[in-house]
Amino acid sequence: MINICINAFHDASVTLMEDGKVIAHLLEERHKNMKHATDPLIALSKIRDYVDRIDLVSFTHLFPEHYSPQLYLTYLKHLSGLKVPTQCPQFMDVRGHLQHTCHHDLHAICAFRNSGFEDATVVVIDGAGSTHWYGKENQTIYEVFDGCVTTLEKTLVGRGHYQKPDHKILITGQGVFNPDEEELPEYISEIINVGAGFAYAGITEWLGWHGLDCGKTMGLSTYGKENSNIPCLLDPIDGGNINFMPISMGTRGYIQGTLLLDEFDHLKQDDQFRADLAYRIQKDYESYLIATCERALSKSRSKNLVVTGGCALNCVANYKLLKSLPKDITLYAEPVSDDSGVSMGGAMQISDMNIECKLENLYLGTQLKYDYELLKHETESNITVEEVAKLLTEGNIVAIAQGRSEIGPRALGNRSILFDPRVKNGKDIVNSVKNREWFRPFAGTVLLEHAKEWFDLDRLDESPYMMFAVDTLPEKIDLIPAIVHVDGTCRIQTVTSKQNKNYYDLISEFHKLTGVPILFNTSFNLAGDTMVEYMDDAMYTIRQSDIPYMYLPEIGKIIHSPKNLRKEEVDDYNSGFEAPKYLHQQPGFEYTERDGIIGKGTSTYKLNEVSSEHGFIEGYDESNKPIWNTYDMLRSDY
Ligand SMILES: [Fe+2]
Repeated sequence: MINICINAFHDASVTLMEDGKVIAHLLEERHKNMKHATDPLIALSKIRDYVDRIDLVSFTHLFPEHYSPQLYLTYLKHLSGLKVPTQCPQFMDVRGHLQHTCHHDLHAICAFRNSGFEDATVVVIDGAGSTHWYGKENQTIYEVFDGCVTTLEKTLVGRGHYQKPDHKILITGQGVFNPDEEELPEYISEIINVGAGFAYAGITEWLGWHGLDCGKTMGLSTYGKENSNIPCLLDPIDGGNINFMPISMGTRGYIQGTLLLDEFDHLKQDDQFRADLAYRIQKDYESYLIATCERALSKSRSKNLVVTGGCALNCVANYKLLKSLPKDITLYAEPVSDDSGVSMGGAMQISDMNIECKLENLYLGTQLKYDYELLKHETESNITVEEVAKLLTEGNIVAIAQGRSEIGPRALGNRSILFDPRVKNGKDIVNSVKNREWFRPFAGTVLLEHAKEWFDLDRLDESPYMMFAVDTLPEKIDLIPAIVHVDGTCRIQTVTSKQNKNYYDLISEFHKLTGVPILFNTSFNLAGDTMVEYMDDAMYTIRQSDIPYMYLPEIGKIIHSPKNLRKEEVDDYNSGFEAPKYLHQQPGFEYTERDGIIGKGTSTYKLNEVSSEHGFIEGYDESNKPIWNTYDMLRSDY
């Protein structure tokens, strides 16, 4: 059977499975160059590169009442050229296909099946998942045991109104659940609050970034310290705090938590206060994660712990969790735990539980094609892996592009920018080339067989997907200053020849030359852009930046792009545009994205610009119905 699952909300993605194996996972943002993009129509258009028919289509969206699966089916049926069965060929009908109803279930299925465990305790934590009749989930604990999946606990965002199937509106008050006469499922936790994901995102927005860019806050946190003026932001047990107000918009449920501490507003440009605030939310989240996982393990029979949901991308907290766990617990952190993973969970939910569908690697994106053209001043030449390693030891930045792009948010050697980790100010050099913020750390890729000589992996055998920022051994810190963060940690990828031969060989050569079995690895993109997907994207990126070299190991070539190109020369380049990725960067083009998820284009509105008069329930009438202000106006965006 060939099935696809479409996640149409943020981090939009399409997962394609054939007979229980994921054969492609396509991220819309890589095609649009808009981080966290919605509506994966371009990704969907690429499915034909892999199959010529689909037997079953399934859908997932956080707000199913506001989107149309028919749109995607219409596209597939009439425009893609794929054979897609429907019950009614003249007028598209979803009845022949499936709609997944629980967001956290999908995170959990994706992570559990990728873990390879036979049984597991699965903890899902994100900003918010599906809106159920009893509320909006923000954390769910599952036990998978003897082939049965049991929900052990579900925590809800604290306020809002939801519609029961009979359209009767329910209201939950702050900290008090009032479900009317309806009986709650027994796994619903008494804890009702804004949740860890919204609290972390709320701080991130306060710092001036998009709520989904929590990695920036995590990077900044290392520069902060205890500040007695900042209260607890995330209770380790309750998972929320009265210092946040959930913003709600009509039937969308909660879409964000906003920090209420107005007295801090005058400190928004104070660098030390910003770092202290980031420090506080990071420390609070670490305590919260550890407490939650301890509780989960105490309720479950399995000693295999799986963490997923957007918060599981916090590689600093994952390592703290790992260190805190009893020695008989095995930990797996899902690499595709952002919302692009829910399409994978959806596709896997349909697949037979007896079929092993664990991913062998994350190279499931677009295959690179070498049909590029060079500009007048550019050169390409044959090169050996030894010569590339030598270029790196001479202080050159070398991008590497090969094979199929890696899925998930981390570059793993197929779309990476590489540098010498021994260079003292290497972090500043690459940060300025990529135009990133000064405080953001870089990752390293280490040959697996040498990993434990350099890093404290605790009980991990490997770290192939950069899900942990591990401690660097003290005697090694000064040897790789470009990739060790100020707290002595390094987010590492371990690599074997089987996982990525060309990349492994390059690091091995670098090791022979320097005695360091590690390369500095950052994603192949500039700040604000998504990772490159196609050769066009890669060429465009090196031409727009100070990256001089791009290594193409599959064809044994290196491209040298001199840095004195005329602007017109770069702008005029067009080899056919494999993807319309940079369309919105052309003059006069304005791209509007929905749901406040924005890339470089414009947006109908931004989440953090929604004022309280638009976002909050103003009060309740005599029949306890919420009184809204202008949410209808906002809903018209759909
Ligand atoms: Fe999620």
